[in-house]
Amino acid sequence: MINKDIFEFPIMYTNIIPRIAVGWGAHETVADECQDAGIKKALIVTSGLKGTGIVDEIKQILNHNGVATEIYDKVTSNPKDYQVMEAYKVLKDGECDGVVSIGGGSSHDCGKGVRVVAANDGRDILDFAAFIDPPWMDEFKKYKPCTIPQIIVNTTSGTGAEVSPIAAITNTKARAKQLIIAPKAGATTAIIDPLLVRLMPRNITAWTGFDTMAHGFEAFLTKVHSPYAYGILLRTIQLVSENLRDFTYNRMNNTACERMCWAATMGGIGIAFGSGAGIVHGLAHQIGAVTDCHHGLANAIITLAGERYNQPACLEKFIPMVQAMGVDTRGLTEGQASEKWFEEMERLLRDLEIASGQLNKQLGLQEKDLEHIVKVYSNDFCRQGNPKEFDFEETLQVLRSVL
Ligand SMILES: [Fe+2]
Repeated sequence: MINKDIFEFPIMYTNIIPRIAVGWGAHETVADECQDAGIKKALIVTSGLKGTGIVDEIKQILNHNGVATEIYDKVTSNPKDYQVMEAYKVLKDGECDGVVSIGGGSSHDCGKGVRVVAANDGRDILDFAAFIDPPWMDEFKKYKPCTIPQIIVNTTSGTGAEVSPIAAITNTKARAKQLIIAPKAGATTAIIDPLLVRLMPRNITAWTGFDTMAHGFEAFLTKVHSPYAYGILLRTIQLVSENLRDFTYNRMNNTACERMCWAATMGGIGIAFGSGAGIVHGLAHQIGAVTDCHHGLANAIITLAGERYNQPACLEKFIPMVQAMGVDTRGLTEGQASEKWFEEMERLLRDLEIASGQLNKQLGLQEKDLEHIVKVYSNDFCRQGNPKEFDFEETLQVLRSVL
């Protein structure tokens, strides 16, 4: 007789990750990738990246090689529901058969959203938001899979959106960031070219780079932790710890640039391999929805408070993470070693000139917003695997402590 007593999250699922073209000059292969994917007319989805010349260059490469283009260049940080629907209209009216997203996570997630809507007869993007209740897996089975391809051209090193199958989209009416999970929403190919990535300004480099760090530690600490992600997440943490400072202050440091590109994608792969996130991303998403601040900055600001909350529930997991950051933990107790993680994280934030907390002063968040944020988080996918059990009042207190 099979013993059918099971524990929480007994089955992990991996997702297919896109083909990855990584290396100096990789952006020049964008037309080849479109043609291999069968794209004859691409919708370019982007924020515009004004001043860099990147969008014009990609468009020229595509057109020169016989791939026609339409463009939607109104994507913003924390991509909005209406932006996905506007971009979908351009795709439909222009009879495009594929998407080329150029930028960071916002452009890529908007591009994924367009494909989800296109596969499901123009339904509103918010119909595909994943919640704990109703259970997202049951809803997921009702959606048609994406059929049109997406080629991603990365211009940041941070979000991992190039390899993740999930899109984070802001529900503007509900003032909530929602995770869109639909079948085959992941991209076809991710082009990761350090030549483009090193054009980031300093603050975006630090903030998106910290987002990568947050993927590393949150996906490592979560109860929804994929065994396949263990090594890749520790390597993500190590690469960020060793290279983010150098890359932030000198974007022409080719070694640091390349390694941050790898780290960002590896963090995304860790999540795509079945690991989740937790309280830091869960609250940061909603802080982003309310204040429209940068996602990586929101993560950075609440990291220390969020993980202090989790620390007693997963003390031993901080040890391999802090070792990956170069700390010798021999002779230390679990408690002492986990404290070292907080010291290292404080040092990283200080070196990146990111202040912890002060959400009101830094982002304009107000006391009256806090309950709303915790309420949205309580039914959010990120909350499910957080190491410490959810408690409304305690979570509210975490936010109050950093207001
Ligand atoms: Fe993130």
